[in-house]
Amino acid sequence: MKFTRIKKLRGEVTVPGDKSISHRGVMFGSIAEGTTEIRGYLQGADCLSTISCFRKMGVDIENNGDTVSVHGRGLRGLACPDSDLDCGNSGTTMRLICGILAAQDFAVTLTGDASIRKRPMGRVIEPLALMGAQIQSRGGNSRAPLTIRGRALHGIHYTSKVASAQVKSAILLAGLYADGQTRVTEPYVSRDHSEIMLTHFGAHVCREGTTAIISPARELYGTLVKVPGDISSAAYFLCAGLIVPNSQILIKNVGVNPTRAGILKVIEAMGGQITLLNERTDCGEPAADILVCSSSLHGTVIEGALIPTLIDELPMIAAMACFAEGTTVIRDAAELRVKESDRIEVMVQNLSAMGADVEATDDGMVIRGGRPLHGAVIDSCQDHRVAMTFAVAGLCADGETKILGAECASISYPGFYKDLETLVDRG
Ligand code: S3P
Repeated sequence: MKFTRIKKLRGEVTVPGDKSISHRGVMFGSIAEGTTEIRGYLQGADCLSTISCFRKMGVDIENNGDTVSVHGRGLRGLACPDSDLDCGNSGTTMRLICGILAAQDFAVTLTGDASIRKRPMGRVIEPLALMGAQIQSRGGNSRAPLTIRGRALHGIHYTSKVASAQVKSAILLAGLYADGQTRVTEPYVSRDHSEIMLTHFGAHVCREGTTAIISPARELYGTLVKVPGDISSAAYFLCAGLIVPNSQILIKNVGVNPTRAGILKVIEAMGGQITLLNERTDCGEPAADILVCSSSLHGTVIEGALIPTLIDELPMIAAMACFAEGTTVIRDAAELRVKESDRIEVMVQNLSAMGADVEATDDGMVIRGGRPLHGAVIDSCQDHRVAMTFAVAGLCADGETKILGAECASISYPGFYKDLETLVDRG
């Protein structure tokens, strides 16, 4: 797919539903009693993988393209699937399902695509094994495929080395089945959608500082889940609106949960003009419409507790920093190396190909902004966030930017290129 410089972006866009919240709606609905209706479900490939895994475990799930109805089977009602569960490209699917399977009375193998079979799974295997589950890495070196045999579980207090909502959520889900309270302490608070939604389903979950605490549950209760737009998808329009001259975009119904909305703080710190309108909270999740206008940006430092609140937006933020005056430093973000691709290497390689002054560090990047970018051939490495980032960068670069594997955007945002095109004002 090819992109060239445009004059301005104008108009309104509604981004698809939040990926993290969509996954959780199907997972929690599957182990609840009664029906869960999920409105605004993301129809991206990752969330479809979650639906297909739970259907294979006997859950009746209707998907009409926006609303998904999950006819739950209760905490212990899942059926043993007749073949492996394929999680595709989705880390959230694989890691969270591990927490549920840790307590079922059957054995299952979880597998997925080439990328997910390279990603670290020891981070969920270790705590779930401490709780009593039996998990074997068939890929070796704690990599998928994973075979899980459910067992009676014990409550633990686990201190995680990484701030990861996938790890935290897997442990909390196993904690529903444990014989006592389960606690997870993280270095920094990661996204708290599981805590919010599990509470909504009737579980007892609370937080003390960076520790999430769950009590064993007798039942979860099916409910209505309204999914706000995904701020990680909105990020492409937020940044495009800031760096394409003469632009003004209204992005409607974006989830702005503070554990996810770090990009808004970074935009403010860089001098970007954004306004939150119509702020509200639905099903415990804050949402707003966001108005963004082209702005002169300057560099900033992004580190520490802020990192987990914008981890998926860092590729786009790194590209945006090329258009800011001065230096932007991203540190404490070594997690970028174990995402769908090594996002530090892939971003530095591709931004350098476009003429940016950018350097990789062990745990981040240093970007010296202000140098004009030129078109290049970009290898997305089948990483959806890389593909979408360079579509935006290509709109502000001289010459032609060609993205290889651009269609992988459908992992999290099936209509992305069409939505971007509708904002292009050629007048
Ligand atoms: C997610 C958590 C984050 C994020 C991923 C979705 C979730 O991963 O990068 O896209 O839904 O819990 P980590 O838990 O590995 O940080």
